[in-house]
Amino acid sequence: MEETYLQSVRYDGETLYILDQTKLPQLTEFLELTDIEEVWDAIKQLKVRGAPAIGIAAAYGLVLGIKEAPEKDFESFYEFFKKQSDYLAASRPTAVNLFWALKRMDTRAKQESSKPVTEIKMLLAEEAHLIRQEDENVCSSIGENALTLFKDGMTVLTHCNAGGIATARYGTALAPFYLAKERGMDIKVYADETRPLLQGARLTAWELMQAGIDVTLITDSMAAMVMQKGMVQAVIVGCDRVAANGDVANKIGTYGVALLAKAHNIPFYVAAPLSTIDLETETGEGIPIEERAAEEITAGFGKSTAPEGVKVFNPAFDVTPHHLITAIITEKGIMHGNYIEELPRLFEN
Ligand code: MRU
Repeated sequence: MEETYLQSVRYDGETLYILDQTKLPQLTEFLELTDIEEVWDAIKQLKVRGAPAIGIAAAYGLVLGIKEAPEKDFESFYEFFKKQSDYLAASRPTAVNLFWALKRMDTRAKQESSKPVTEIKMLLAEEAHLIRQEDENVCSSIGENALTLFKDGMTVLTHCNAGGIATARYGTALAPFYLAKERGMDIKVYADETRPLLQGARLTAWELMQAGIDVTLITDSMAAMVMQKGMVQAVIVGCDRVAANGDVANKIGTYGVALLAKAHNIPFYVAAPLSTIDLETETGEGIPIEERAAEEITAGFGKSTAPEGVKVFNPAFDVTPHHLITAIITEKGIMHGNYIEELPRLFEN
């Protein structure tokens, strides 16, 4: 798959380069991060965002965070490592990829515990690279699988941004659109603007336009009308966490889109890498939902749009129950409904 390729997270052994997604689409600027606090801040402030990209950034953040870790023995190293890992884990609560990536780094550290600490540090940098590289392949496979659900001439609606910049490359929900373009298929996209931080308008519309994909921007409140008029034939979204029963947390507004799709008899698809599937959380009720600052709603992008002091509720995600999801698309195949039984099978070798 070829596309205009902007690597949102890149590490050169010294510096972590992060595409500052808060500046898009006006500016394409990279942050140059050299310590773990800066990485924490970049995740918290959504400079790097999207579940897989958060996981990748956290893995590299940990690599930066253990640079100064004691090297005399594994025990003192590991104590330091654990503190840094716990610190990063507190940056955002919902996307399970953050915890998945930190756990993978932890497993690798323990596997290598008999080696000198200087070498363990190098091997952990290698693990972070692997996490990034694997995500690229995973997204490519998700794109292939998702495309089997779409036909030439279709128009598909998406919510938030689950594109190349939210992952290592290609994206999850947007991957089939890049692939379709490459294969000469005509698939058009409607992008919800995605209140309050406009990931759909600022990021999805921008990303797809860069790649020459036919995208039309709508406000979130227009999705119902677009469906009623028969203007879209499917919905595809990414996700931040899939519970064991197939309930899915994704950007606030996704649940509403799923309900609308059901009401209009339109298939609602979720693209989910295995790194986003959390079998330890039984249902969507167990998924922690991040609440963010009131100013994102009352003064989004600097302009005051509400009376000062108004009470605000600002959950960043919602949970779509599994019965509204037509299929979950992973790198290992597509699941149609029987999630409780099918999800664990994905993890069998
Ligand atoms: O708050 P954000 O912008 O990190 O939320 C992102 C989403 O909800 C995405 O849809 C999800 O992380 C999937 S990205 C492949």
